[in-house]
Amino acid sequence: MKMSIEKRRCRVNKTYLNHWLVRRDPPNHTRMRKVPHLQFSPKHIEQRFRSTVQDIIKYLIQQVEDKGRMDVVNDFAAPLPILVIAEWLGFPKNDREFLRRTSRSVLAIEEAAADRNEKTTKALLIFKEYINQFVEERLAHPGEDLLSLMAEGEKQGVLSRDEVVGNTLFLLIAGHQTTINLIANGTLALTRHPEQWELLKSNPSLIVTATEELLRYDSPVKRAPRIMAEDIEMRRKTLRKSERVLIIQAIKAITQTFPPFSLEAEKLEYEPHLGLRILKALRVSWNYEGVHGERDPGMGRP
Ligand code: HEM
Repeated sequence: MKMSIEKRRCRVNKTYLNHWLVRRDPPNHTRMRKVPHLQFSPKHIEQRFRSTVQDIIKYLIQQVEDKGRMDVVNDFAAPLPILVIAEWLGFPKNDREFLRRTSRSVLAIEEAAADRNEKTTKALLIFKEYINQFVEERLAHPGEDLLSLMAEGEKQGVLSRDEVVGNTLFLLIAGHQTTINLIANGTLALTRHPEQWELLKSNPSLIVTATEELLRYDSPVKRAPRIMAEDIEMRRKTLRKSERVLIIQAIKAITQTFPPFSLEAEKLEYEPHLGLRILKALRVSWNYEGVHGERDPGMGRP
């Protein structure tokens, strides 16, 4: 019997979205994570990327210098992280427009549009073909890039091909969408707070604390669906184990207690944020496996 289009779509979406590291719990999460882990140490990233990132920044600035103006999102925030992650994974630089456009279509599943599942499936099938050809090539001729590490994971029997394709796609999306948002939101925050911008310009060593503060103030990842790993009390309510929760980081819009944007060090110390560490801070789970079994991507919004 022929499978319905809807069923096929769901199967494709599940295959290439459910394997994402960020959607798995141990022991699968632990097994998959150890493959790319080697290239995620701060030392490795510093050594491999500092001068590359500086060169890309210089190149992007040169492109707009003569114009005397810049569209921060299109001329800088978008191309910078795509060029970096494309190089890290080992995809050709010239594919950057394709990578951005198709990644955005994968993320259509997060939107409210009626055709969101269809758009995502189409983009996933395109990526499947695209990534597969590189995996085959790296299996035959391994290099130093992240994709070669993923292909080696398959060769060693740690990852299946679907896991390699799914997680290569995850690394591509995680590695640029977030950073685009951080640069764009950060520029906006600094534009709206000129006194903080002046402070940063007069003391460039504040850039590390500024990055942390921008992650807190206007987080690049605004919401994250998770499942409670245990009961916890929060503001006189009990969130029960296995309940679905949506962690929303737009706190500044809904509470009076959200501290204003500030690069002064003493303010930064008291305000922990969830910009990078949702799981640890809230004792929630990725648990798409243990609690509810395999999840339908896009269908499981809490
Ligand atoms: C401003 C930049 C970034 C932000 C705000 C960000 C944010 C996040 C968040 C919120 C999570 C989920 C953590 C959790 O559930 O506890 C995550 C996971 C992850 N991110 Fe990022 N990220 C950024 C940049 C990157 C880059 C450049 C990469 C490179 C590929 C990357 C790769 C990952 C990976 C592999 C995971 C899954 C980790 C795991 O499950 O063990 N991220 N990120």
